[in-house]
Amino acid sequence: MSSNAATHDDHDHHHAPSGWRRWVFSTNHKDIGTMYLFFALFMLFFGGAMAMVIRAELFQPGLQFVSPEFYNNMFTNHALIMIFGMVMPAAAGMANWMIPLMIGAPDMALPRLNNLSFWLLPAGGLMLVMSIIAPWVGGGTAVTAGWTLYPPISLQAGMSMDLLIFTIHLLGISSILASINIVTTVLNMRAPGMSMMKMPLFVWAWFFTAILLILIMPAFAGGVTMLLFDRHFGTSFFDAAGGGDPVLFQHLFWFFGHPEVYVLLLPSIGVLGMVIPTFSRKPLFGYKSLVWGMAFLATLGMVVWAHHQYTVGMSIWATKYFMIGTILISIPIGLMKFNFIFTMWRGALTFETPMLFAIAIILMFAFAGVTGVMLAVVPADLQYHDTYFVVAHFHYALIPGAVFGLYAGVFYWLPKWTGHMYDEKLGKIFFWWTTITFNITFFPQHFSGLAGMPRRIVDYGVQFTEFNTISSLGAFAFGLSHLLFLYIIIKTIKGGEPAPAMPWEGAQAGTPGLEWTVPSPPPFHTFETPPEVK
Ligand code: CU
Repeated sequence: MSSNAATHDDHDHHHAPSGWRRWVFSTNHKDIGTMYLFFALFMLFFGGAMAMVIRAELFQPGLQFVSPEFYNNMFTNHALIMIFGMVMPAAAGMANWMIPLMIGAPDMALPRLNNLSFWLLPAGGLMLVMSIIAPWVGGGTAVTAGWTLYPPISLQAGMSMDLLIFTIHLLGISSILASINIVTTVLNMRAPGMSMMKMPLFVWAWFFTAILLILIMPAFAGGVTMLLFDRHFGTSFFDAAGGGDPVLFQHLFWFFGHPEVYVLLLPSIGVLGMVIPTFSRKPLFGYKSLVWGMAFLATLGMVVWAHHQYTVGMSIWATKYFMIGTILISIPIGLMKFNFIFTMWRGALTFETPMLFAIAIILMFAFAGVTGVMLAVVPADLQYHDTYFVVAHFHYALIPGAVFGLYAGVFYWLPKWTGHMYDEKLGKIFFWWTTITFNITFFPQHFSGLAGMPRRIVDYGVQFTEFNTISSLGAFAFGLSHLLFLYIIIKTIKGGEPAPAMPWEGAQAGTPGLEWTVPSPPPFHTFETPPEVK
């Protein structure tokens, strides 16, 4: 009869596009999740190659391979690509894949918006590549301001800076739309009986992440738009010559930039909340306190931004406020660590690759916490500011805290995503290889920093040579380990042992697994009938 008679099945299976159309026009959360993950994998190698350029140049003092301008452009884009191109899309890929499955929803709440959110990313990536090559093609100088894009340098760069501002607009819109979709999905698409306080921790982590992104992205987008106006439309928001204030930009940037750290960390904390119970064969210890801990972390994270700017001449009371607020963040972080440790306590532990990464995260992130408190203390920070100590600190925060959490998630869910088990032996080799070489790369940078080596400079004094040579050797080996990562992923996609429904034997026989919290796949629900009607 009328089209109303068409069943859900008709709609799904008879008009599903195939070939390249399946991907380009996709509204399927799994396909979009897969595209996010591949995009992130590509960007991992793109941003990683830039890190290799940086470490090659710093292998010994003096200028060897690149010009100072190109070097500055490399560390600027390395940061932007790793943050916006790699960590955030990888976490978004996991969100797309797992959130609907975990809450028993048929898909994301806004599937077409989901498609747009993803496709804005390659557009932004293309704009970023244009920004890098603009100095050769269109003239002008490269972006040399660092990812923080502080004026006055960002006011002076050539058209490459405008392209980078548009890149940030595109990536920012993508993030906000994806976040709106996640919040909407979590609030409206949970299967009957899936109350908020029953959601897997990964869903909670992404819920807070999405709220943070919606709150902070506009500050950054506004900041760079004001920069664009200063550059081309005669305003003087940040130009001191016209009565503006460059420090205003720093506030706008870090109002986004500090919570952004939690945007990078929270999804990985969510992964830990799945991995650790599974390989401990115990439910999460203190689930509710973890949820409230994340809420506290996100809230506090919004109000401590100016600890990045102690040196700009704020009042003593302002710096004191930002110092105390920052140190308070160790409370929720410490709470979460104890939750995870108590989850493992007296569990039936096994040490597959995801669990190895989870344990390494707890250990190495603690180190970033200690250096973080050192940097939060105002008089001490005045010494460490803009040294390699800061570089060491945030790489210990972001590589174990965010990237290793994503690796744990990749190995944990690869069986779910591909239908095959990955090669556990190779996974373990990858774990030890990355963990050891990561430490060889970044541990020495604490010492060169404390000894006074400034960051973001192409050359350095000869007294820092040994630390830098060790760091570079570690970085080359760290970079190389990712070829193994790629090989493991390709091998798993192509074949291998078929994955059972509960690949990690996280459950006792006959009981639902800890792995998915809800049975996998969850019971189908069309949401066409309000749950209370039946
Ligand atoms: Cu911060």
